[in-house]
Amino acid sequence: GMRAPSSYIPRSVNSNDAIHISLVNPEKTVSTFHPKFTYSIFGDEESIFGYQGLKINLRYNSSDMRPVLQVTYNKKYKPVGDVEPTDVKGALEEFLPKTAFEKVAVFDAAIKDPSYAEWSPPGELLKTVQGKGDESFEIWKGSLADVTVKQLVKRIQILVPFFIEGGTMIDLDDTEGNLDRWTVFFLYKKTPAGTYEFVGYSTVYRYFLYQPLTRSGKSPAKKQRIEHEAYLDFTLPLPKISFSDLPCRSRISQFIILPPYQGGGNGSRFYNAIFDYYLEDKSTMEITVEDPNEAFDDMRDLNDLARLRTIPEFKALRINKQAMPRHTGPVPQNILDVPSLETLRTKLKIAPRQFFRVVEMQLLSLIH
Ligand code: ACO
Repeated sequence: GMRAPSSYIPRSVNSNDAIHISLVNPEKTVSTFHPKFTYSIFGDEESIFGYQGLKINLRYNSSDMRPVLQVTYNKKYKPVGDVEPTDVKGALEEFLPKTAFEKVAVFDAAIKDPSYAEWSPPGELLKTVQGKGDESFEIWKGSLADVTVKQLVKRIQILVPFFIEGGTMIDLDDTEGNLDRWTVFFLYKKTPAGTYEFVGYSTVYRYFLYQPLTRSGKSPAKKQRIEHEAYLDFTLPLPKISFSDLPCRSRISQFIILPPYQGGGNGSRFYNAIFDYYLEDKSTMEITVEDPNEAFDDMRDLNDLARLRTIPEFKALRINKQAMPRHTGPVPQNILDVPSLETLRTKLKIAPRQFFRVVEMQLLSLIH
């Protein structure tokens, strides 16, 4: 016969296109979207081999984010040589929580359970924020050492490989007792009915700062430093110190707003709320960001600039025109009153590179 050779049938599909992520509430599917990246799950080609009509549905209870994974297809092809069809479930399950539902029917029944209406996010309510129109959002905050916070993070961590290029999930089985160095912020939409719908989350890691001794060795920080070292060295008896009192740098590690909620100012409001929290936090000396991408940098620049522009000393910054002819770069350092800028920088807890970037943006905006 004239049948086309079977090699003409496309046997691979793009894994980003094949995966449908949905958020579901008792009434309806709130939203459906695709992951942006799947290379860490399905390989650099981001392809899945060996199925016809493949559909991968990862459905989430929109409040507690307990998922169910459903993989369907019309046909599974025979292996080609020693290339077997991709083990789709196996590949994804590594990134999903053990508490995932195994059956769609059980997931559907759980969504309809009256307990949906009573559920509230783990941790404590940090802030209520007004969105566009009359939309209301809540930011909840908790430690990763809190089992309910940890459980929710386990359920949503697959969003890191899905949406952050080069992002890595937190090792939640960390046995070194470092979980309490992580603070997690959850952004939820509060519906008029009082139920919660997941929008995004961010994790922040606390880095302890060493306080160098003064020459006399009588630095007031000495006691603290010794206690800190004792804490790190587990052979020494653990002093009774509170973690939250040690001076630290708080580093935003992962920050995600789900696609249906992007581009509407949600990321900015969430970022500013986290920033406000650490400005108030006495032990945090500096707020930094781990490996930000371009989209995050843009959002950060806009919001840091807006924050600084509310400060009169910053708004009063001027370019020293007399210094201008000598300089070649965009903003010469010698035109700035560096000591007072440094005071402003430490007060605002912005990391040096980011701060001077925003200063440069401000000065450039004065030229036009
Ligand atoms: N590309 C370029 N710029 C962007 C993007 C984007 N995808 N998204 C936002 N911005 C910039 C824009 O300049 C925007 O200004 P506009 O309002 O004039 O458009 C500004 O940021 C503020 O936008 P928001 O609406 O407040 O930001 P959003 O809610 O979309 O959140 C974020 C931005 C966090 C980057 C979101 O798109 C997201 O979660 N993306 C996927 C995951 C991700 O990339 N996370 C950051 C990784 S880095 C890290 O985790 C430390």
